[in-house]
Amino acid sequence: MKLRVVYRCTECAADQPKWAGRCPSCGAWNSLIEDVEDAAPAPAPSLGGVAAAAPIPLHEVDLMAGTPYPTGLDELDRVLGGGLVPGSVTLLGGEPGIGKSTLLLQLLQLWPGRTLYVSAEESAQQIRLRADRLGVGQPDLWLLAETSIAGIVAAIERVDPQVVVVDSIQTVADADVGSAPGSVVQVRACAHRLVAEAKARRVSMVLVGHVTKEGSLAGPRVLEHLVDTVLSFEGDRDHALRLLRAVKHRFGPTNDLGVFEMSERGLVAVPDASSMFLADRRTGIAGSTVTPTLDGQRPLLVEIQALTNRMRPDVPARRSAQGLDSGRLALLLAVLERRAGLRLSAHEVFASAVGGVRLAEPGVDLAICAALASAALDVAVPGDVVLFGEVGLAGELRQVGHARRRLAEAARLGFRRAIIPANSANGVAGIETIRAATLPEALALAGLAG
Ligand code: TYD
Ligand code: MG
Repeated sequence: MKLRVVYRCTECAADQPKWAGRCPSCGAWNSLIEDVEDAAPAPAPSLGGVAAAAPIPLHEVDLMAGTPYPTGLDELDRVLGGGLVPGSVTLLGGEPGIGKSTLLLQLLQLWPGRTLYVSAEESAQQIRLRADRLGVGQPDLWLLAETSIAGIVAAIERVDPQVVVVDSIQTVADADVGSAPGSVVQVRACAHRLVAEAKARRVSMVLVGHVTKEGSLAGPRVLEHLVDTVLSFEGDRDHALRLLRAVKHRFGPTNDLGVFEMSERGLVAVPDASSMFLADRRTGIAGSTVTPTLDGQRPLLVEIQALTNRMRPDVPARRSAQGLDSGRLALLLAVLERRAGLRLSAHEVFASAVGGVRLAEPGVDLAICAALASAALDVAVPGDVVLFGEVGLAGELRQVGHARRRLAEAARLGFRRAIIPANSANGVAGIETIRAATLPEALALAGLAG
C-alpha cells in the first residue's frame, strides 16, 4: 500500500497537494489539515456482503419502502414529515450540550420495537442513569459503549434492531483507516460503512454529529451528501427553547420547524410556541411590539423589545442586537432617521427578540422599527396590535410571504389589529388589517407619530 500526504479541507473536503492558510476550493481560512491517503484509488464502499442491486421496472418499485414510521415525538415527526423511514440515514447536528443525546434516547425509549444505542462518548452506566431520569423505560432498548466500527457493525448484526443511534460519528473509528478519529477520512469511512449497513439491513440509522462554534459540522460537510436527512438542533444555552430543523430531507419538504423545551425530565414538545414566547409579556410598556414571524412553514408570534438612552455627544453610542441581525438593526436605524425623522444617532440602542429565538426574515423589520420608535418616544403600542412587513431603504413597506398565515396566528392568540404593508393579500376573519404604504404611515397608525 503506497501512502501519500494530502491536505484536506474540513469545510468542503477538497484535497490540496500543498498546505495553504486558505482553502483554494472554498475559501475557508485555516481549514486544511494533514492527512495520509492510499495512493491507489479507493474501492467502492462495500455493501456489507449484499449482492449489488439489480435494475427493476419502475412500476414494480415498492412504494411502501419509503413509508415513515412515527417516532412518538410529535415535533420530530413534524420535521421528518411523519417519522423515520426504514433503511434511511439521518444526521443530527448541533452544538455540544444542546440535547442531541437526550432527544435520541427519548426517541428510542418510545420506539415500539427493538433498538440499539451505540455510545462512543459515554459509558453504558451514564446512559442508563439518563434513561432512568427521562422516565418510561423501553425493555427492548440495547446499549453498546463502543468506538470501533467493526464492533458496532457486529452488534447491529447480533441485536438486529429497527433503529440504531450512533452517538457520535466523530468518535467512531475504523482501525483499518490510518487516520485519527474525528478526521475527515475517518468520519467519511465510518459513515460509508454505516450507510451501507442501514441500506442492507433496512435499519433506520441516526448519526449524531457535533457542530463547531462556526456552525459547520466538524469535518463532515462530506457527510451531508452521504445521508438521506440532515437535521439541525439549535438553541441558546441560557434558554430552555430548542429548535429542530431539516436542512436536507430526501423524503419530503425541509421547511417545517420542531419546537422543544429542555426540562428536568428531558425534551418536552412545545406545540403552541407562540403562547410560550408571549407568556411573560407585559402590555402598555414602551419599547415592546409583537410580530407574527415565519420560521419555515411555522408561524410564531414573537415579542421584540427595544431600549434607547441618550448619550453625551462625545461618547460613542452603542448598538446591541440580541436574536436579531446587527447589520439589519443598523440599517433600520438609518432608515428611521432619514425617512421617519427619528434621530437616534446620539442614543445607545438595545434591541432583542425575546425568548432565545433568532429572527432572520425581513418580515420582522416593521416591528423592530416600531419598538425602536416606541422606546425613543416613550409611547406604548396598544397591546392588541401586531405588525409585520419589510422596510425598504426608501422607507416604503414591502409585502412579505404568507400574510394570511401570519394574521391567522395573531388572531388565534387574541390580537385584534394588524398593521401590514398596503399591498398584502386579503385579511382573515377575527383580526382587523390596517394597511400602510410607508414606514412613517405605519408608525403614525401605531400611535407613534414623532
Ligand atoms: P445532552 O443530550 O447530553 O446534549 P448533547 O448530546 O447535544 O451534547 O444534553 C445536555 C444538557 O441537557 C445538559 O447540560 C443537561 C441538560 N438536560 C436537562 O436539562 N434535562 C434532562 O432531562 C437531560 C437528560 C439533560
Ligand atoms: Mg451527547
